[in-house]
Amino acid sequence: MVDPLTLDEVEAAAKKALPSKIYDFYASGADGQRAVARNRHAFSRLFIRPRVLQDVSEVDTSVEIFGARSALPVGIAPSAMQKLAGGDGEIDVAKAAAGMGLNLTLSSQSTSSLEDVMQAKIDTEKGLPGPPFWMQLYLHDDIQKSVPLIRRAETAGYQALVLTVDTPVLGNRLAERKEAVILPKGLSLPNLEKTTPGTKPQPSINRQFMNVRSAAEAKALRKAFGSKMHSSSLTWERTIKELRKVTNMKIILKGIMTAEDAALSVQYGADAIIVSNHGGRQLDETCSTSEALPEVSAAVNGALPVIIDGGVRTGADVFKCLALGADFVLVGRPALWGLAYDGSRGVETVMHILERELSRTMALAGVKNVKEISRGMLGVTNRSGF
Ligand code: FNR
Repeated sequence: MVDPLTLDEVEAAAKKALPSKIYDFYASGADGQRAVARNRHAFSRLFIRPRVLQDVSEVDTSVEIFGARSALPVGIAPSAMQKLAGGDGEIDVAKAAAGMGLNLTLSSQSTSSLEDVMQAKIDTEKGLPGPPFWMQLYLHDDIQKSVPLIRRAETAGYQALVLTVDTPVLGNRLAERKEAVILPKGLSLPNLEKTTPGTKPQPSINRQFMNVRSAAEAKALRKAFGSKMHSSSLTWERTIKELRKVTNMKIILKGIMTAEDAALSVQYGADAIIVSNHGGRQLDETCSTSEALPEVSAAVNGALPVIIDGGVRTGADVFKCLALGADFVLVGRPALWGLAYDGSRGVETVMHILERELSRTMALAGVKNVKEISRGMLGVTNRSGF
């Protein structure tokens, strides 16, 4: 069998392999799924202005992020419950990333423990460490409740906390409301359940919160569950300050979509930001991340690394993100599709496709390293859908 040649082909293979309920859970966005579509289609409004006769016999796709070299300007975004895709879930993804010298962010809602994922990285690298892994976190309303998980991540060797800030409440995910994805027997969320005693299985709580019919019902539910994992009371004034008191890890804010919040991220001392709309799973009526990137990048003006995720499916998309001012790019669903298609090898297939497409795009555009990719290499058209 010939391996898929594009990420769309990997997705098609994954769709065949997965139960439709799991495929839908991974693929869906919120409400009318407009942000999911917009993330993808906005890339087709951008075109590359190629330069020729530039000696591109050697193309270097590597970048440095927080002082570590990554073979690609692409890492793997955090996504929940990867064992639902089959095999060893997060462990398989970690092996693929570590084997290729790539960074990943582990979801706090993972079906493998953060320690096991770090061990898989160490075992795969065999003494030649690649870029560090990062740990994603939703802060509890009561930040103290998050401290044990933060300590575990720090002890295990995660370099950064990726704090997801676009989820004060869950997005309106219609498929999940109709049919909740419940973890089958034998699967658990070991980061949460081991660290925060009394944590109930999150998917069923999520469903209850999403399906409340009135404000009074929501209030009663909040009272019943006490401190929720998704905090809606965090503010700029206290969040980073309080996290700094409990950890030396770098703090990356995930879910910044405006120049205003980018400026506040710099002001309050974030170490990096991720321009993200959660893969279209939160606010549906927002713009695509590639549309938000230019204003964010201008507001930051080099003060900290700007990372982006959302709808990136080709090496040319990666190129466009870098040209719009991103320092690093993440892919979410493609890793899940790779996993469902062929476990760890499938994730490698995905990242190799991106690697080859990026390197080819760079050569054809006339650049030999990532630093040479600039805003002037892009044009914009109002016609989309090519
Ligand atoms: C996510 N995402 C996510 N983000 C996060 O901060 N914590 C999480 O636990 C999850 N879980 C999750 C599950 C699934 C099934 C998906 C598809 C996404 C969002 C993710 O990190 C990222 O922002 C998007 O997936 C990026 O968009 P693409 O690449 O999937 O289009």
